[in-house]
Amino acid sequence: MSLLPTQINLQADYSLQSLNSLAMPARAEYFCSVESLDQLYQALDYANLHGLTVTPLGEGSNIVLAGDIQGLVIAIEIRGIDAQERGASNPDKVLVNLGAGENWHHMVEYCLSKGWYGLENLALIPGTVGAAPIQNIGAYGVELRDLFVSLEAIEVKTGKLVQLKVQDCQFDYRTSIFKQAALDQYVIVSLSLELSTIPEAQIEYPALNAALEGIKPSPEAVFEAVCRIRRDKLPDPAQIPNVGSFFKNPVVSSTLADKLCASFPTMPCYPQMDGLSKIPAAWLIEQCGYKGHRYGNVGVHHKQALVLVNFEGNGAELLALAEAIRADVNRKFSIQLDIEPRIYGQYA
Ligand code: EPU
Repeated sequence: MSLLPTQINLQADYSLQSLNSLAMPARAEYFCSVESLDQLYQALDYANLHGLTVTPLGEGSNIVLAGDIQGLVIAIEIRGIDAQERGASNPDKVLVNLGAGENWHHMVEYCLSKGWYGLENLALIPGTVGAAPIQNIGAYGVELRDLFVSLEAIEVKTGKLVQLKVQDCQFDYRTSIFKQAALDQYVIVSLSLELSTIPEAQIEYPALNAALEGIKPSPEAVFEAVCRIRRDKLPDPAQIPNVGSFFKNPVVSSTLADKLCASFPTMPCYPQMDGLSKIPAAWLIEQCGYKGHRYGNVGVHHKQALVLVNFEGNGAELLALAEAIRADVNRKFSIQLDIEPRIYGQYA
């Protein structure tokens, strides 16, 4: 191709295996990484000029590469953390502005060290800051949307820098506008979160509450407890490739939930608003006999049935296992599980 941009290092036929936490052996037709808005604009101009589809990439911790990615994959490495006080009307709050390429967990640790509280329950979630709004990350009773103020993104089609506020993002359980109406339309470049300078702890989540038994629930203690629980239950992607929860927890009608509870009295069930109930997908999968088993080159983690792991397989093998699980859960419980990570690339 001609007209190579000067400031970006564009590479053809680039291996993505070390850039996705499932370690899937897929390639990008073209790849570059960008550390500034200027570099991102250059990459987008190049893609527009050559008619290439753009795929932004964080740390690849919530994607399944089912095959190669056509077009230009852009790793977003735009960093930076700064904070502004909210002023006399809101003296206990601080607005923290974050580059999309910051590592989420390191950012959580940094904010805690500065005395900016609120993110402790979200410790150790893999991935980048820029990926967090896409699925509205959440854990141990806190979701991104609880702290989110706004984000800045480049609209791929026009190259315009736009701001989206919390109400624009349509956050819900493990979803946002970026997984729905605005799919593939934006590259997120920064986030603003409102944190508190007053130490408070959110410890309602039962497993967290139990882990803190007898410990003064300071933000630091919550952070440590969340890290302990996660390290104990969830496989480290660097050791056993995975993307965390592979399915969303299904939300079903209370009528179906009541019927299932009658047939399966040990089934955990969490009533939601609007006559709906959330059921742990991990329990459903475990009941179908998958927990801790290996199927060829892929498998289901032995401590958390919601986590599919890749030993040395590919996207097609992992998705075949996911389909077998979905079919069995549907047959046994009449519940459709939704896959949580984004699937990229063609597979046969
Ligand atoms: N359970 C089982 N078998 C298992 C694991 C769990 O039956 O193998 C049942 C237990 O009854 C347990 C319940 O499921 O009480 C809930 O388990 P857990 O607290 O581990 O949470 P989860 O619903 O499985 C969700 C998130 C996690 C998040 C935790 C803590 C989703 C899809 N997953 O898991 O998020 O860390 O809650 O808040 O909502 C992720 O998104 O990648 C992720 C790890």
